Amino acid sequence: MKQTDKTTCTDNGIITVAIDGPASSGKSTVAKRVSALLNIIHVDTGAMYRAMGLKAVRCGIDPADEAAVVPMLDTTDVSIGFVDGAQHIFLDGEDVNALIRTEEVSQAASKISALPPVRDKLLDLQRDLAKKQSLIMDGRDICTVVLPDAKYKFYISASAEVRAERRFLEYSDKGTLGDLTIEDILQEIKQRDYRDMNREVAPLRPAEDAVFIDTSYMTVDEVVSAVLAELGMASLLHI
Ligand code: DC
Repeated sequence: MKQTDKTTCTDNGIITVAIDGPASSGKSTVAKRVSALLNIIHVDTGAMYRAMGLKAVRCGIDPADEAAVVPMLDTTDVSIGFVDGAQHIFLDGEDVNALIRTEEVSQAASKISALPPVRDKLLDLQRDLAKKQSLIMDGRDICTVVLPDAKYKFYISASAEVRAERRFLEYSDKGTLGDLTIEDILQEIKQRDYRDMNREVAPLRPAEDAVFIDTSYMTVDEVVSAVLAELGMASLLHI
């Protein structure tokens, strides 16, 4: 994979940073930190698919059943807003930020995101956001499909075992672990990786011109530094 060629990019004064990577790779945490340092918005596209997954769960629809999901899309509105710089996701006008991080919704999001009509609906929203302003957008297909002309592209990953451990600690801290073991979480991560990487439309894969960062043995600070260095903004860390 080659480094981003910054000389061939046009940006009209807008900074566009695209980040892809698998579940729990730390990409959203890093994107959030970098966006705050750059004073630009962070768009977490996974939240949009999670909102769609939540809607299917609420409607009792199988998120993998395209024939059932398509009619649901006509009556589904997903949008985002920002409160104190943080993204909030709205499903049919309701702020569902606090409801989309469960294992049930994670699995539903992964299944529903494989359906082309769902992706088409969210693609326009994602591209429109990037037309208007500087941003960091993260997801699975941002470098490859949504913003292929982004000035800066990254693929942020970590081993499945490390990602399971991070997720386990996160759930323990939040008190949402329930009966889940680390092995359950590892299996869930592997299932999602498989589905996200092997679907027909916009599968997760590193863009050829993305900078690859394996965060398995890196701290969040180290990853943030690596991203800022690529952006030529390492000095921001010392302000
Ligand atoms: O990043 P996340 O775990 O919140 O994403 C939830 C699901 O949404 C993920 O399993 C795959 C899907 N997704 C996608 O297909 N494309 C994106 N750009 C972002 C997420």
